[in-house]
Amino acid sequence: MKISLTTSSVFRQPVPAVILFAFQNERITAPAKFQAALRRLTKKEFNGDDKQIAVLHTTPRIVLTGLGKHNDISAERTRRAFAAALKRLRDAGITRAAVQLRCPEPSAIVPLVEAAVLSAYRFTKFKSDNHKPGIAALTICLPAGSDLVAAKQIVARTQITCEAANYARDLANLPGNIVYPAVIATYARDLADATGLKCTILDKTALEAGNYGGILAVGAGSSHEPHLIVLEYNPEPGTPNRQPIALVGKALTFDSGGISIKPSDKMDEMKFDKCGGCAVLGAMKAIVELKLPLNVIGIIGAAENMPSATAYRPGDIVTSYKGSGKKPVTIEVLNTDAEGRIVLGDTLAYAVERKPVAIIDLATLTGAVGIALGTHCAGLLGNDDKLQEKLRAAGETTGERLWPLPLWQEYRDMVKSDVADIKNTAGRYGGTCTAAAFLAKYVGETPWAHLDIAATAWTTEEKPYLAKGATGFGVRLLLEFLRNWQE
Ligand code: BES
Ligand code: MN
Ligand code: ZN
Repeated sequence: MKISLTTSSVFRQPVPAVILFAFQNERITAPAKFQAALRRLTKKEFNGDDKQIAVLHTTPRIVLTGLGKHNDISAERTRRAFAAALKRLRDAGITRAAVQLRCPEPSAIVPLVEAAVLSAYRFTKFKSDNHKPGIAALTICLPAGSDLVAAKQIVARTQITCEAANYARDLANLPGNIVYPAVIATYARDLADATGLKCTILDKTALEAGNYGGILAVGAGSSHEPHLIVLEYNPEPGTPNRQPIALVGKALTFDSGGISIKPSDKMDEMKFDKCGGCAVLGAMKAIVELKLPLNVIGIIGAAENMPSATAYRPGDIVTSYKGSGKKPVTIEVLNTDAEGRIVLGDTLAYAVERKPVAIIDLATLTGAVGIALGTHCAGLLGNDDKLQEKLRAAGETTGERLWPLPLWQEYRDMVKSDVADIKNTAGRYGGTCTAAAFLAKYVGETPWAHLDIAATAWTTEEKPYLAKGATGFGVRLLLEFLRNWQE
């Protein structure tokens, strides 16, 4: 999408449609020739209410989109209102438009670019019929006297970020017959080749040599071998010893549940069980493109969880990857469907070995997080309140909300096993907290935050600026968090 900026009025742009925001009960300013059309609108038709939208059949078309009460304005409201207007244009087959921004703050551009780029994404790779193209060129008209240089930088930065989210969505939307662990590894390798990231891939042979017992156990039932994928970004090769921030992702390319097989209803959705890993890939892509001044390491545990004669079974005792100088954690497998934490255990142990200043993991880990919080936020757990607060604040800014859940000793006690160090399930109650308590066993004292994105990583209904399917949840949040990072 081509996004251009100008300080001249929206009505001077050579476009078939212009978009105007309006607050509730507010007079709309437009050139005299549009006044008659505006007057014909009844208050019922358009009053600037939140979610209200109206189209004037003038030349150019005018799309009015409501922001609601002035005092209730937020970035999320702006994203939604703008996406609603763009949807109208898409439905009408209009591909070029201009929008008027009245707020002089350059940062006010961010939600417009986010809504435009994110709402333009569709997963159409396997659709043979024609699709409405949506907006191809957008002109953002800023108030006279605005700082165009600053604005341009913000547009570029936001576009990179949202396109990285769309990249993560595009990979996440691909089904299990097309994307399996080796394919995720290929995506990582291709990204590294294109950007200069360092890429290390541990295939099954390497995982065996390194005693990655957890990821190997989960992957044992599949004909597609598991992989551990590492991407490293080091902007100043002269200072490689600055401790990195580790981004860790769960990438189950398909989760059937294994021998503890899932019910068939909605099992198809488990192609999205790789969304945490996809978010890490997307974040790494934007991190290099934005040239962030930080060392970051992205680590993805990729496997497919299948039932077969070679699959791991309930009752098995599995020995995790131990990391250097540590005792390996042993796991009693009570349910092969609680596989994500086993894969993440090895992945986190690898991360800890790299001595990061902080670890942030993203995982579609528990159905329970959706029961606790619904689909409007992800669960946030960890061992470091400051880190968690920074992440929560970043998500508030980007519209990817996080909400804290506890990780008390009681939950850690719940995952103790009679025959091994820990067991991989502790029943239904507090499922998100006990899953995080399992992960906590691997991170020790390293500052760590866990984002349970099981209810936010994909959507089964269309959202204001997100189509059905993978949402890219976490990519923009991580970038906002990293941009604000200070040790
Ligand atoms: N990938 C699932 C979690 C999940 C479930 C995500 C539903 C999205 C929707 C995970 O591997 C899993 O199966 N978790 C189990 C754990 C249970 C067996 C303790 C769950 O949440 O039911
Ligand atoms: Mn599972
Ligand atoms: Zn899973």
